[in-house]
Amino acid sequence: MSERIGQIARHLNYPKGLLAGQVAIITGSGQGIGAECARLFANEGAKVVVSDIDGPKAEEVASKIRSSGGEALAVPGDLLKDGYIKELVRKAAEFGNGKIHIIVNNAGFTWDAVIHKMTDKQWDTILSLHSTVPFKLVREAAPYFRVKDGEPRNIVNISSTSGVHGNAGQANYAMAKAGVIGLAKTIAKEWGPSFGVRANTVAFGHIETRLTANKEAGAFVEVDGQKVALGIPEKQKKSAGPVPYLDIPLRRPGTATEAASAVLAVASPLSSYISGQTISVTGGRNI
Ligand SMILES: NC(=O)c1ccc[n+]([C@@H]2O[C@H](COP(=O)([O-])OP(=O)(O)OC[C@H]3O[C@@H](n4cnc5c(N)ncnc54)[C@H](O)[C@@H]3O)[C@@H](O)[C@H]2O)c1
Repeated sequence: MSERIGQIARHLNYPKGLLAGQVAIITGSGQGIGAECARLFANEGAKVVVSDIDGPKAEEVASKIRSSGGEALAVPGDLLKDGYIKELVRKAAEFGNGKIHIIVNNAGFTWDAVIHKMTDKQWDTILSLHSTVPFKLVREAAPYFRVKDGEPRNIVNISSTSGVHGNAGQANYAMAKAGVIGLAKTIAKEWGPSFGVRANTVAFGHIETRLTANKEAGAFVEVDGQKVALGIPEKQKKSAGPVPYLDIPLRRPGTATEAASAVLAVASPLSSYISGQTISVTGGRNI
């Protein structure tokens, strides 16, 4: 897939890649969709800043990119902890010789409960990570986006069908993922006119990562010492009916590479006149 994108880029006369010379911060790029974004962006000539709470995974992604000839810097840290966002932007700007061109607000996890059982902690954590963090990161990076140097700048927020359509059991996540759609539109309106900054949202349906793997696989994150299990219970997946993925016209989940390819497409100059939009990457679900 990434080889194909490279061929297209070369064909369209981007000999050094679609993102040549651009500096991109990708949050949550230690694994899953973010890691694929990092790999594809680097293949297209971007200098990639790999941000993730999981230090070893962030280092691994960055070192793989470097060993295949790309440029990447791992900046591990917890986006929910004070100070990390400042450090991330400072290190990205150093790495980029004073420039940052792209932010992909991707980091996150789910912590589900039906409304009447959802705790304040679940609510606050998910809203902070999926909505407040993207705002704070964009605000911190404002001096690198509110510039007139003739180079492209753009922000891609990652949302979900839960944010666009709502989802039972995910009031916190749905609200947070709806929030980043409004944030992207607002950035487009504030920073588009004078600085040419584009801002869009990519909303995913079912993409195969640890977030959608069987819960029984045992993946978890820790929030202040509390274990939060990740994934979807196998029973819930099976109860979807006799035809798998009946609600998806393509009848299958997407891969992380397919998801990341859509992010690359939105961030690339092929989308230079697309701003303020929400692009659904769902295999046709919810049409
Ligand atoms: N997988 C799907 O089906 C799907 C669907 C819709 C939206 N999304 C969204 O896509 C994005 C990526 O998800 P994914 O499926 O690749 O999940 P993933 O679990 O594979 O990757 C998410 C990454 O974010 C990192 N992260 C989590 N909390 C963090 C924090 N506090 N600070 C720094 N890093 C942190 C994790 O360590 C992890 O590496 C998320 O925003 C998710 O909500 C995913």
